[in-house]
Amino acid sequence: MTNNDSRVLRAELLSFDADPGDDDTPAPGSVRHHPDGAVWIENGRIRAVDDYAALAPELPPGIEVVDHRGKLISPGFIDSHVHYVQLEIIASYGRQLLDWLNDYTFPEELRFADPDHAAALSEAFLDELLRVGTTTAQVFCSSHPTSVDAFFAASHRRGLCMLAGKVLMDRHAPEGLTDDVVGGIRDSERLISDWHGKGRLGYSLTPRFAPTSTRAQLDATGALLRNDESLWLQTHLAENTGELDWVAELFPGSRDYLEVYERSGLVGPRSTFAHGIHLDQEMRGRLAERGANLAFCPSSNLFLGSGLFDRQAARQMGLNVTYASDVGGGTDLSGLATLKAAYQVGQLRGQPLTAWQGLYGLTLGNARALSLDDRIGRLAPGMDADLVVLDPAATPLLARRTARSRSLAETLFALMMMGDDRSVAETWAGGRLQHQHD
Ligand code: GUN
Ligand code: ZN
Repeated sequence: MTNNDSRVLRAELLSFDADPGDDDTPAPGSVRHHPDGAVWIENGRIRAVDDYAALAPELPPGIEVVDHRGKLISPGFIDSHVHYVQLEIIASYGRQLLDWLNDYTFPEELRFADPDHAAALSEAFLDELLRVGTTTAQVFCSSHPTSVDAFFAASHRRGLCMLAGKVLMDRHAPEGLTDDVVGGIRDSERLISDWHGKGRLGYSLTPRFAPTSTRAQLDATGALLRNDESLWLQTHLAENTGELDWVAELFPGSRDYLEVYERSGLVGPRSTFAHGIHLDQEMRGRLAERGANLAFCPSSNLFLGSGLFDRQAARQMGLNVTYASDVGGGTDLSGLATLKAAYQVGQLRGQPLTAWQGLYGLTLGNARALSLDDRIGRLAPGMDADLVVLDPAATPLLARRTARSRSLAETLFALMMMGDDRSVAETWAGGRLQHQHD
């Protein structure tokens, strides 16, 4: 496939220029909506976005116009936290976090020492992401460098914007998964030099979570992060009460879980902390001050019985919230399914999630929090051409429901509640058609 060609996609367009807020009516100027719009793609980027009627006279004669009228184009979805190496243990029954890790996750991750397995699962995972309209993700690999090479190589071949990293884990895991301080850093440095900034790839330092790293490993990771401000960092924080007790026991000198990471210099504007369910306002404030983000992983939090994330408490403190599947703890890779679960968690907390806020979150919101908004997250000239073509009539029941919609908000909400891979007609990334629903 080449990406140096030029074409136009004609459809209804939805994109956000700013946070729409949490009211039923989006904040003025936040939503860009073209009922009959056109996106002009050229050389992997978006060249122009407008009403079709306004753009048509400017188009060169003979340019291909893909007619998607009746469908809705959004920027590609972003998943801020997911484990590709857990793809095949999705939906493993009956455990909470720590037992789930020991019984299912660690044995599965051991398989990624094999480069052939890592390569096959990288391809399968990317196929699944694209099937649900996700064009960018921040990804945990396993602790084997080969798992990272496989994932980045597969992403690079497809021209995708992906963040990923090697899990750092120097204790409390099976022998075949643990590294040591020096080896973990040396491997991370090699991977950074091979992949960080190559094409559309970025490296995310990946200490799994406090219980599986010694203080020395966390400190060494912090030193790497300090040395290169262009690196990302991803880890887990305050997901489960058993985990909290364990961290308190392992780090008696830290007054709370977050301070374990703060002391090693791991909390910064490019740091993503998955979950953050069991935090107080003061801790949320400390995260916000540093510009970090919490990855809200609702289907995982429900599946593992971890708790109900308090989205409003985070937003009140000005803390960035991103949306994430957290597969294999999560039960669905689909961004729409993630929003459905987020809505359900919100209902149980008296904090319903509007479709505006949800779709903003999956696109520009996640892009901003991950410092990727100079490249992705919006339908706008100069942005990378990553987009998803949604079909609001993808199934008989969805078609019935959206036929009754009296507003765009209603249609978007129906998609958020009922949408899945069937509602993703096409996924484009880097200007290439990467998935087409049959
Ligand atoms: N905490 C540490 N490792 C993991 C993991 O793999 N998944 C989830 N959900 N939480 C974790
Ligand atoms: Zn996770």
